[in-house]
Amino acid sequence: MDSAGQFERTFIALLSTQNITDMKPIICLIVAVMLISNIQAQVPIYKDPKQTADSRLKDLLKRMTIDEKAGQLNQLNGGFFTGPARNDPGQKVKMQMVRDGKIGSFLNVIGAKETRAIQEIAVKESRLGIPVLFALDVLHGYKTIFPIPLAEACSWDLSIMEHSAGIAAKEASSAGIHWTFAPMCDISNDPRWGRVMEGAGEDPWLGAQIAAARVKGFQGDLNDAEHILSTVKHFAAYGAVEGGKEYNNVDVSRVALWNKYLPPYEAAVKAGAATVMNSFNVFEGVPASGNKYLVTDILKKKWGFGGIVVSDWMSFGEMITHGYAADEKDAALKAILAGSDVDMQAQVTIKNLAQLVKEGKVSMQAVDDAVSRILKMKFKLGLFDDPYRFSDETREKATLFTEANRAEALEAAKRSIVLLKNEKNTLPIAFNGKKVALIGSFADSKDNLLDFWIAQGEAKNAVSIREGLQNRFGNTATISFAQGYGLDGVENETMIKDAVTLAETADVLLVNVGLSGKMAGEDRSLAFPEIPAPQVALLQALKKTGKPIVALVSSGRPLILTNIQPLVDAILQCWILGTETGNAVADVLSGAYNPSAKTVMTFPYAIGQIPVYYNAFNTGRPIPEGTDPSWKSRYRDIPNRPLYPFGYGLSYTTFTYGGFTMDKNTAGKNESILVSVTVTNSGSVAGEEIVQLYIRDVAASIVRPVKELKNFQKISLKPGESRTVKFILLPMDLSYFDATGAPVLEPGLFKIMVGGNSRDVLEKELTIK
Ligand code: NOJ
Repeated sequence: MDSAGQFERTFIALLSTQNITDMKPIICLIVAVMLISNIQAQVPIYKDPKQTADSRLKDLLKRMTIDEKAGQLNQLNGGFFTGPARNDPGQKVKMQMVRDGKIGSFLNVIGAKETRAIQEIAVKESRLGIPVLFALDVLHGYKTIFPIPLAEACSWDLSIMEHSAGIAAKEASSAGIHWTFAPMCDISNDPRWGRVMEGAGEDPWLGAQIAAARVKGFQGDLNDAEHILSTVKHFAAYGAVEGGKEYNNVDVSRVALWNKYLPPYEAAVKAGAATVMNSFNVFEGVPASGNKYLVTDILKKKWGFGGIVVSDWMSFGEMITHGYAADEKDAALKAILAGSDVDMQAQVTIKNLAQLVKEGKVSMQAVDDAVSRILKMKFKLGLFDDPYRFSDETREKATLFTEANRAEALEAAKRSIVLLKNEKNTLPIAFNGKKVALIGSFADSKDNLLDFWIAQGEAKNAVSIREGLQNRFGNTATISFAQGYGLDGVENETMIKDAVTLAETADVLLVNVGLSGKMAGEDRSLAFPEIPAPQVALLQALKKTGKPIVALVSSGRPLILTNIQPLVDAILQCWILGTETGNAVADVLSGAYNPSAKTVMTFPYAIGQIPVYYNAFNTGRPIPEGTDPSWKSRYRDIPNRPLYPFGYGLSYTTFTYGGFTMDKNTAGKNESILVSVTVTNSGSVAGEEIVQLYIRDVAASIVRPVKELKNFQKISLKPGESRTVKFILLPMDLSYFDATGAPVLEPGLFKIMVGGNSRDVLEKELTIK
């Protein structure tokens, strides 16, 4: 019994005695006053939901020891999806650390049951009962797996992306997760880098819109226990790793940082992202985790970011390996002085913070600022009032992998498939009565449909392409299958022969080539992002049959398709589409869904062309389109053109552009410009078109790209229908950032361009006075 109860009992006993009857009213009053103050003393302010979050946080901070504060900044791996094996000595140590208040958050602990068990230890057995946070990489779904982010970005459909992030959050939150390490907002021009699968491609403006949409989707208002903290990563410029090699060096200028790499992170922060993750790379020779310019000057001061800065896995400790910190204590010091808050897995903060404060190297104010950022999120999520609101097994069961979630995943998957080639109207296919040869081991495999970052997605629940075709057309068409190649990557003559035999009896060949989703993602850099040789050999053999061939390309990045393009009649870039892969591919093949996606990363012509991207600088010696002069910026052995440019994608209908107008050809610096273009569906089926607006600042104090995307609209048109699409071009759309991050709009000539991709555009001139 608590002391208030004891107190109350004693006085009630006293009051019941005869000899003090006359004094009863006075005693009652005294007792009441004492009881109230006593009870108040029992409920600390930080635990009182009636107090403001701010006063609760301040009260809690006052009560914490320096070790408990360091504990809040310590994030540990809970064990990869195994949950705490209670008898494992390593896990026992971690549970004791929870009791001692030495862990503020875990990553990779999942499930309502496991998270609740650990939360109970934190809340009931630690001195202050501060709840822990559970974090996980939920990138494109938790149990229901959506297309990889790069694929979904090709839909250019912001509401779909916001929605799918929302569903991922709903599923993850029901399984005890409070925090996802997404969205990944790194701009990259290098398909050798496996992590392009996690991002939104090469364009800073589009990347910014997508980053904001994903943050909103994951986080909602953070009050309903159905949304989770999002993380903008990897801050900053991680997409510029040299040679596309994971964990590699980055060397970019401040101008490039501000104009090319920062816009998506900034948009995500402005959209309310709760956390930001340091990147593994250096910027200007200083590792991001210890980089004050990035973390304090830009993120916290210039952008006013009030959330948590979390390290990447061990990145505080890796400052030693980089050659920037002398030892763990120095690493902890450099991280906190730079403004980084939470130490993921390196444990340099928990081991050294108290000593650093004692020595006066780190101020208590700096510690309190960092700790407040994490406590603030715990209050915001309502965990001090109900620590278990995310860990509810009944809700978990009802929320995961529902029919409704799968329907949304199918919708997103259909909208992510890019039609890259479609000769002789090979697509769509009228399946009725057709003999279809489906060829390629991937098409019959479930193991390659979900990765990378599959959270709790289960391969057995995913729909393979073979199953999808069978589901949709099994009763009306003959779907036969041949492997064509082995999953081991070795050329197999027999498999090719069997495929050719099958092909000879078929009306159309659907050939699934590419790379497994397992070949993309973290630690999956490739020197040769291309179609494996055995698959090329297969296509060469199939081509000889003279049958129409549709290539279904699975991959987590743009691959070099130059050698297979002439071998096939149609190419569908299917990426890695998640749980509903097969159904989505079937719907696009048949035309039940008319493809509408467009590339968000350039498809290079050859590996040696990388990096190749649409928003490049002109150079002093560009090659005019269609010419091949010497002493210009070019390769001797390949064209400058990529195979498929940014913003490119076909439809089963065609669109024509005309009536391009601007409401003025000359404008002042503060004026906006109305740009209009009329788009007509000139084909015979309904379709969606992504109408794109580009600009070029022709002469500026800092050279600007030949094209920069500044807006788009995705419209739907019936056959023969026309629509006039209007864009308002704002002065800020014409400005760029100087090396200090200040926006600059200079007078002079601009080009304004509109079109259905970044190559084929209509163009007009605009003068800013
Ligand atoms: C390392 C990755 O770079 C990062 O993106 C991820 O969130 C962490 N590991 C945690 O899994």
